[in-house]
Amino acid sequence: MPKMKFLLVTDLDNTLVGDDKATQFFNQRLQSMRSQICLVYATGRSHASTCELIAEKQLLAPDYLIAGVGSEIYQDGALDLDWAQYISQNWDKMAIASLAQQFKKLKPQSPQAQNPWKISYFLEPSTEHSSIIQELQQKLTASGLAAQIIFSSNRDVDILPETSNKGNALTYLQKRLQIPSELTLVCGDSGNDISMFEQDVRGVIVANAMSELLAWHREFGGNNHYLARSAGAGGIMEGMAYFWEF
Ligand code: GLC
Ligand code: MG
Repeated sequence: MPKMKFLLVTDLDNTLVGDDKATQFFNQRLQSMRSQICLVYATGRSHASTCELIAEKQLLAPDYLIAGVGSEIYQDGALDLDWAQYISQNWDKMAIASLAQQFKKLKPQSPQAQNPWKISYFLEPSTEHSSIIQELQQKLTASGLAAQIIFSSNRDVDILPETSNKGNALTYLQKRLQIPSELTLVCGDSGNDISMFEQDVRGVIVANAMSELLAWHREFGGNNHYLARSAGAGGIMEGMAYFWEF
């Protein structure tokens, strides 16, 4: 029987990527243990934008890519159609987008940031974030539209199907690969990573994490969650040493 692999699921921006030296150092370490690890990148970026980042920062090729905050899963550049079909149930993108359009403080992100299962906006920095998001969620619920709103970095608002976020996407892969919780480690820095920490997995929060993730950790953090002392890729390495003695 082949030896069980470790499942490493990491966010990119401000987690694996951010400090080029730390990223390169981490990549070398990872390369030396590559055959023991199933490597997954979980990002808010689109597939195209992730490929650009991988090339620019010379990241290792992942086994799977969770893109668009969990709205898409790719393996070798091919979209996972089972996942697409699953999250399409009960998802009415047009109706949700037209409702969200009524909120003038929500500024649409670029067309490249949108996909069939992800509607993304920016909120102006000065606005009262939580009340707008609450109101949007209430209006969606009142209209019978199933969706979840994910707020990150005090700025980004993503509307996704209820079933799709980074956490659900990683659990879908973890089940398919049959990798147990103790061997699954997730790494992140911001609000769109919270759903990963909510799964039955180990998690490392890098030292440069955003306030929304730190607030989540203060309220819900447990023994499975490690707050790293180092930022970015250095924090991932700390977490791997802490949970896996790597
Ligand atoms: C990435 C995506 C953006 C999203 C943000 C937070 O920056 O490009 O669309 O809103 O992550 O999830
Ligand atoms: Mg990030």
